[in-house]
Amino acid sequence: MHDYQMKDFESGKFPLLFSPEMIQQRIKELASEITKDYHDKCPVLIGVLNGAFMFLSDLVKELKIDCEVDFIKISSYGDQRTSSGQIKVKKDIDCHIEDRHVLVVEDIVDSGLSVTYLGNRLMAYKPKSLKFVSLLRKKGSAKVEFNIDYLGFWIENEFVVGYGLDLAQKLRNLPAVYILK
Ligand code: IMP
Ligand code: MG
Repeated sequence: MHDYQMKDFESGKFPLLFSPEMIQQRIKELASEITKDYHDKCPVLIGVLNGAFMFLSDLVKELKIDCEVDFIKISSYGDQRTSSGQIKVKKDIDCHIEDRHVLVVEDIVDSGLSVTYLGNRLMAYKPKSLKFVSLLRKKGSAKVEFNIDYLGFWIENEFVVGYGLDLAQKLRNLPAVYILK
C-alpha cells in the first residue's frame, strides 16, 4: 500500500472536499437543530472511535444543552479501504443508557453495516430514544436500509481522509477532508 503523508494533501496533490470553515459551518447548523430537538433533554452522545473523535468534540462545543459523552470502539475495516463486514467491539460504552436519550455520533457512513450493528446493540439496553448523527454519508453504497437523523454532507462513493478519517490509522489530524484519488 502507498504510504501517504500529510504533506501530499497540504500541497494540493489531492482534491479538497470540505475545508475547515465548511465543516465548522455545517456543525453549527447540526448543533442548532440538535439543541432545538433536545432542549428539554440531557442526551448521551456516543462517539464511534476512532474516526468520530474530532467531529464529536467540535459538535458538543456547539450544543447549548446539557449532555454526556461516552465512546464505543468498533472495527470492521482493519487497515483495508472497504468494509470486511465483520464488526467487533473493541471498547464498549461505560454509561448506562437505559431510559436515556442516546445520540450515536459517526464520522462517515458507507455500507451502513456499522450503524445497523450499533443500533441493534444499543437498542438492547432499552434507551428512551436512539438517533444517529454522521458528518458524512456516501451515495449509493448502502448494503442495508438505515436512517441517519442528522447528516452533515452527502458525498460521492469515494474514499476520503482527514478530520478524523484515516487511511491505515494516519491522516486523521488533517483539519480538512480530502478525496484520496
Ligand atoms: P460502514 O459500516 O461501511 O458504514 O463503515 C463505516 C465506517 O467505516 C466509518 O465509521 C469509518 O470509520 C469507515 N469508513 C468508511 N468510509 C471511509 C472513508 O472513505 N474514509 C475513511 N474511513 C471510512
Ligand atoms: Mg475508521
